[in-house]
Amino acid sequence: MLRSIVHGTLMMALALAVGCDPGSDSQEGGSSTSDGGSEAPALDEDELTDRIAAYAEDLTRANAMSRPSAHGLAATVNVHVTPIDLAAYLGLDPAQVATGSPEFSPAVLLVKEHLDADGAVSGLTAMAPDAASPNGWWWARLGADLRIVESGQVGYCVSCHSEVQTQGWVYGVAADNRN
Ligand code: HEC
Repeated sequence: MLRSIVHGTLMMALALAVGCDPGSDSQEGGSSTSDGGSEAPALDEDELTDRIAAYAEDLTRANAMSRPSAHGLAATVNVHVTPIDLAAYLGLDPAQVATGSPEFSPAVLLVKEHLDADGAVSGLTAMAPDAASPNGWWWARLGADLRIVESGQVGYCVSCHSEVQTQGWVYGVAADNRN
């Protein structure tokens, strides 16, 4: 009980420590259904969770060496990408932010694997396309049990990644660390 309170406080502190402001979602929601037009299919979180949980088998690792995390949520990280989107992902350079979004497939899935100091997986963050999102992405953080802890327009994810919004809100892998 005390433990979970301590844990909750810790997570809040973490969100603040990464310097971003959670929870300022602008309420644009509720895309009108007036015409019943065939809009983009609704995002299926259960299906996405299954796909994310299978990242180790189904996705391709984009970086060569695990590297220190920019998220502050892990000791080191690896990024895994849908194989068909690997080339587009590796075309991005975090050191030279481009203008123009990469040509990802509609089924693109980006999963960042968090490792603790012993190299064990301590959680994941993930991005998948969301036509209803103002930035085009659905954002999620998963725990070590590979279940979603928070998802949707997670304020501190969006706020940090806005730094690279001109290249599709995605950072990419440093040129000297590509797989
Ligand atoms: C402190 C800033 C920051 C925050 C907060 C942040 N990210 Fe990131 N994210 C980065 C950086 C920088 C990278 C590039 C890889 C690296 O150096 O770790 C990255 C990489 C990623 C990647 C791999 C794809 C890419 O952009 O290259 C995913 C997926 C991702 N983040 C998801 C998330 C999600 C989901 C959240 C919220 C739960 C989040 N991030 C919060 C900075 C941040």
